[in-house]
Amino acid sequence: MANHEKYLVTSALPYANGPIHLGHLAGAYLPADIFVRYCRLKKRDVIYMCGTDEHGVPITITAEKEGKTPQQVVDYYYQDIKETFRRVGMSFDNFSRTSRPIHHQTAQDFFLTLYKKGYMEKRTIQQFYCETDRMFLADRYIEGICPYCGEPGARGDQCEKCGKWLEPTQLIEPRCKICGSKPVIRETFHYFFKLNEFQPRLEAWINSKTHWRENVINFCKNWFREGLEPRAVTRDLQWGVPVPLEEAREKVLYVWFEAPIGYISATKEWAEQIGQPDRWKDYWLDAENTRLIHFIGKDNIVFHAIIFPAMLMGYGGYVLPDNVPANEFLNLEGNKFSTSRGYAVWLKDYLDKFDPDSLRYTLAINMPETRDADFSWREFQARHNNELADILGNFVNRTLRFVHSYFEGKVPPAGPLSEADQQLQQTARELAELVGDMLDQFRFKEATRLFMDLARAANKYFNDQEPWRTRKSDPERCATTLNLCCQTTYWLSILMEPFLPFTSQKLWTMLNMDRPFAQARWEEIGQATLPAGHVLDKPSILFQKIPDEVIEREIDRLHQALSSEQPPPAAAQEAGQEQTLIDIDTFRQIDLRTARVLAAEAIPGARKLLKLTIDLGTEKRQLVAGIAQHYQPEQLVGKTIVVVANLKPATIRGVESQGMLLAVQDEDRLVLLTTDAPVAPGKRVS
Ligand code: MF3
Ligand code: ZN
Repeated sequence: MANHEKYLVTSALPYANGPIHLGHLAGAYLPADIFVRYCRLKKRDVIYMCGTDEHGVPITITAEKEGKTPQQVVDYYYQDIKETFRRVGMSFDNFSRTSRPIHHQTAQDFFLTLYKKGYMEKRTIQQFYCETDRMFLADRYIEGICPYCGEPGARGDQCEKCGKWLEPTQLIEPRCKICGSKPVIRETFHYFFKLNEFQPRLEAWINSKTHWRENVINFCKNWFREGLEPRAVTRDLQWGVPVPLEEAREKVLYVWFEAPIGYISATKEWAEQIGQPDRWKDYWLDAENTRLIHFIGKDNIVFHAIIFPAMLMGYGGYVLPDNVPANEFLNLEGNKFSTSRGYAVWLKDYLDKFDPDSLRYTLAINMPETRDADFSWREFQARHNNELADILGNFVNRTLRFVHSYFEGKVPPAGPLSEADQQLQQTARELAELVGDMLDQFRFKEATRLFMDLARAANKYFNDQEPWRTRKSDPERCATTLNLCCQTTYWLSILMEPFLPFTSQKLWTMLNMDRPFAQARWEEIGQATLPAGHVLDKPSILFQKIPDEVIEREIDRLHQALSSEQPPPAAAQEAGQEQTLIDIDTFRQIDLRTARVLAAEAIPGARKLLKLTIDLGTEKRQLVAGIAQHYQPEQLVGKTIVVVANLKPATIRGVESQGMLLAVQDEDRLVLLTTDAPVAPGKRVS
């Protein structure tokens, strides 16, 4: 085995049941890709593994909703996710799938080994069973009232409202999520992984991780304080990795038991692809020299920092994570992403309209590292126009244009270096060093800000040196200035690459480099590399400005998702969804009421929105509705309309909307629902 430092980097395996949105990208993928690209430029031995998570209840629930088989769902989304990641520049060494045979074998071997080593305990338990659907109901197939906070829609494994982890039997008034009937309790058996036996080793190990992010450490310490307990790692389901025991042939491995093993199977598959089937061992089985780094979102901490490490310890011989940089969440224009309401920016929709690098830059400089962050289209536009175009793009463009106008497109020769020249070179070296340090500490925001500082310094240098003046007064000085500027564009093409790989490639081509970028090294930043006389290509604009209208369209689209007109999520549209039937109880959860419009007014800057004040009988409320292009404010006052009264409030263009009105879209008309005869406000509609 090679005896040198190796990096094994992973990003959480996305569930293959829906497309990727910006929140996913910012959480577990973009930071990993930036880090890996940096490692490659440092010529470190690094591999980057990912793939889709194709089992588990999230997949089967999507399949039922879309009227498809789980296989059809995962086949579709594997391709969809893989292609989207390619377009945004994720540079995985392998993007695998947990449905592949190599993963099934690896996961089964893990289970059997832990079983044989005595780390599994067979327990008989009482579990919910639906007599209508004739199946045991896994956690997420059950809903009921949360015993802690009273939330009616709590899932069998967790209440999303208060965040408490639950046992399904704790739910008050449990219901089968498929058919809505009341499940019965039946006896079954499962295998429990004796997580408790690993607590002392895990605690000692985590205590040695003084360089980990605070959120991750605190999370683990809380779990330790409550005491680790054996956890069921099998389920009574059809879809998944079969349990490799004769006595449990009908059961599958719990998805959270097998999915992280997917990182190992992806590496095995990669080793086979490159024709060195044992290569995976150089990483996974060389704990001395490998640094395993899991990039994840904060909801995945327990699995990556406690359970999977315990499994690796139990199996023996495997490397444990060196770090688990977990990101907080990304919000969207001040509200939480809601894929079910269509309140999201799907990555592929973004990529159809904009440059991948502008998004990478905006998300990286604003990454939810230590606290939640917000993506706003206005900020995106400002970062693109004022930083990428006006600072970075401008410097490259003015340099190359100058060289083409006055030096026949060739890198001019450098004379003796002035203090300012040396200073620029020095700044480049220092920034490269600093950006590298920040990336090694997973401080992506800071690293991104610092990389742009080189372009800032370069613009200032260009201005201060006034080459348009020295061209006549001191041609040698002018040549030296432009030589330095050319070198700086070269340095920038390397320094920007982890963040802006597509732009870096464009610039590399404009600089007419004859060697492949793969040969570029981080250490070249600050060293004069381009020889005098080197011929440069004609410059083209790196970033075209994004106009206001384009951004407003995106903002409006989101507001419509929040207000009345609600496009179905992109995924459902494409999959040609079949209708799902709901029961009367589900319908009754929607509190529809009559309301009288007391006042209506336009919202400045929002062409499609009106702010309404309504009388709900017992209270007054404010709604934001996307009806301004169909109704004049004064037409609305006095009308009795129908509203959803128990919708979570949302902030639209800075205005809180406390409900939603009902309307019908008929071609390009929008018609409000009213009552057939006068009715008092606040009456229940059913
Ligand atoms: N599919 C999970 C999610 O989206 C993440 C799985 S990460 C793995 O939350 F480690 F289990 F693979
Ligand atoms: Zn049922």
